[in-house]
Amino acid sequence: MERINFSLLRNKAEKEIKRATDLEELNVIFKKYLGKKGIITQILSSLKNLPKEKRSKIGRQANLLKSIIEKEKEKREIAIKKQIEQESEKDESIDVTLPAKRPETGHLHPLTLVRRKVEKIFESMGFCVVQGPHIETEWYNFDALNIPKDHPARDLWDTFWLDQKRNKEKLLLRTHTSPVQVRYMEKHNPPFRIIVPGRVFRHEASDASHDIQFYQVEGLMIDTDISVTNFKGIIDQFLRKFFNRKIKTRLRPGYFPFVEPGFEIDVQCFICQGKGCSTCSQTGWVELCPGGMVHPNVLKAGGLNPKNWQGFAFGMGLDRLAMMTYKIGDIRLFYNGDLRFLKQF
Ligand code: PHE
Repeated sequence: MERINFSLLRNKAEKEIKRATDLEELNVIFKKYLGKKGIITQILSSLKNLPKEKRSKIGRQANLLKSIIEKEKEKREIAIKKQIEQESEKDESIDVTLPAKRPETGHLHPLTLVRRKVEKIFESMGFCVVQGPHIETEWYNFDALNIPKDHPARDLWDTFWLDQKRNKEKLLLRTHTSPVQVRYMEKHNPPFRIIVPGRVFRHEASDASHDIQFYQVEGLMIDTDISVTNFKGIIDQFLRKFFNRKIKTRLRPGYFPFVEPGFEIDVQCFICQGKGCSTCSQTGWVELCPGGMVHPNVLKAGGLNPKNWQGFAFGMGLDRLAMMTYKIGDIRLFYNGDLRFLKQF
């Protein structure tokens, strides 16, 4: 082995290390001396070929240089890291003259907007806004509403039944807001007028106009002398206020076990003003909601004497109203949380 000038080697290495500007460069320099094939590594591994006297001297010098380079590298590494930190702090410094970033604010969901509008209008006509549970008993959802156990009418409402271990009474997710009629009658003395906005659930396939959950607004008015005229009057007044103009309505017979007589309320088609178009299947009318005069059995289930009390009930689809208001073609848009849709309201 030719003579090694350790002090020259040391100067060179120290200079190079000091000049390194980033960690990557520093690493390359370090490897040049102390990597697997580094200059000093090679010196150390060739020691065994040297005569004994030389071996210990060169070995000592090489090991000394090794530890110097390691220390220098460590120092430089700390310095570089510190510099990086300072620079990033500089980047984060705040320019107080810049205009502030506005945090994004949320806003009300279209269904909430429509619900609040509906509530306001009915409140102005003396109705109270009432709530009921989403999880219902079979009794309130069906039996108390004059729907016999094995009556095919139950098939109208495809039900989500809940698994039950302890509770003997069968529980379900309410399929409509009508159970609140009976719940309210049990606890309040007539006369009263209520609306019940809330979520309902149906176990059925979803498409553009059906989803497994949607919103209804139940209406119930009980007094001593209520007729179909009152019913139509309230609905017409509601629609006039909701759409800000007079809207023509008509009643047709409809079947629900908890009303007698039962109706379907249609509104004159918005699109063609009753002339007939594809939206109304050329009939000039679109379905708004079902309703009717409360069945005596329902009054009885609620603890009221049908000889003294009578009234009407209806079940409006809040989603339907919102779809009419904003001209939305697919009910599922209300529930899938797509911001591109929601930001339009
Ligand atoms: N509850 C019925 C439904 O979900 C609607 C309805 C309410 C019908 C009140 C008549 C009276 O379809």
